[in-house]
Amino acid sequence: MLVLGIETSCDETGIALYDTERGLVADALHSQIDLHVEYGGVVPELASRDHIRKTLPMIRQLMADANIDKNAIDGIAYTAGPGLIGALLVGASLGRSLAMAWNVPAVGVHHMEGHLLAPMLEDNPPEFPFVALLVSGGHTQLVEVKQLGDYTLLGESLDDAAGEAFDKAAKMLGLPYPGGPQIARLAKSGVVGRFDFPRPMVNRPGLDFSFSGLKTFTKNTIAKCVSEDGLDEQTKADIACAFEEAVVSTLAIKCKRALKQTGLKRLIIAGGVSANQRLREALEEMTAAQRSQVFYARPEYCTDNGAMIALAGALRLERGHVEALEVKVKPRWPLEDLEKLA
Ligand code: KG4
Ligand code: ZN
Repeated sequence: MLVLGIETSCDETGIALYDTERGLVADALHSQIDLHVEYGGVVPELASRDHIRKTLPMIRQLMADANIDKNAIDGIAYTAGPGLIGALLVGASLGRSLAMAWNVPAVGVHHMEGHLLAPMLEDNPPEFPFVALLVSGGHTQLVEVKQLGDYTLLGESLDDAAGEAFDKAAKMLGLPYPGGPQIARLAKSGVVGRFDFPRPMVNRPGLDFSFSGLKTFTKNTIAKCVSEDGLDEQTKADIACAFEEAVVSTLAIKCKRALKQTGLKRLIIAGGVSANQRLREALEEMTAAQRSQVFYARPEYCTDNGAMIALAGALRLERGHVEALEVKVKPRWPLEDLEKLA
């Protein structure tokens, strides 16, 4: 079954073709970072307008490059939520219209289900069941995944998402959006141990997170170090390093706890922050000590992309998922509300 995937939930237009026999056939991504950078974050109206400009030409180009005719396509998957409503509506309207024109089924995919299945795009894919750590710009969640669509929320952030915390800390350090990769780059030249940032909520039982205190701690640390000339480059790097270590070790402690609590031996990490090298290293170390295994996708499939949506849609359609013929998006959509598909 060959499925065309369309991702337009935020600031990337992602298009992909996924085949349940052959795997990922082709994919393309257009990032809107340049469009939003001067505003320090995503401007929803600009995002929607850019998706409208890019989506159809990208689909046409991808199909031509991959030498795939419309008659070869068996289904269409588009991101139906969570995300920015206008941006979601672009993918949903185009996805539904193409499905109607080509007389194939369409499926509205949950963006976070897409993320959590993304490690399955790689060789050696994880098998169900597993624990998933979803860490993106909008979500920080630990989920017990029994099978496709069978998700139990184990814990989540009570305030800022991990990616959001990276973005806000980066902004305070004068780094451009999105901040995660910028902090990670700067942290490499930081001196470990010059600053010691707190690990929020690790001494409390449970699997919830809180990152807003780290934001305040970062702000106060900057205020203490700043001179008339601003922050010197080494201090910036040392703060970035301490911040990254605090987020990474907090996430690692909670992942270890989630594996213990569920008795599961497989951990997958997904979402933009799972591209973070230090997080991957820390989780490799933790899982090795627990005789468990950690799985993640290559960095370009950790951040938003069309491949994960095509994959999630293909797995759903293959298992008989059917949907009413309507353009419906859900800007807020709990993962636990999804239909279980054996
Ligand atoms: O999954 P994603 O692309 O979009 C959402 O669905 O939110 O995640 C974007 C988030 C941003 O907050 C970005 O700063 C963060 O992922 N991110 C990173 C890294 N790459 C992206 N955070 C830490 N380290 C990275 N290498
Ligand atoms: Zn995402």
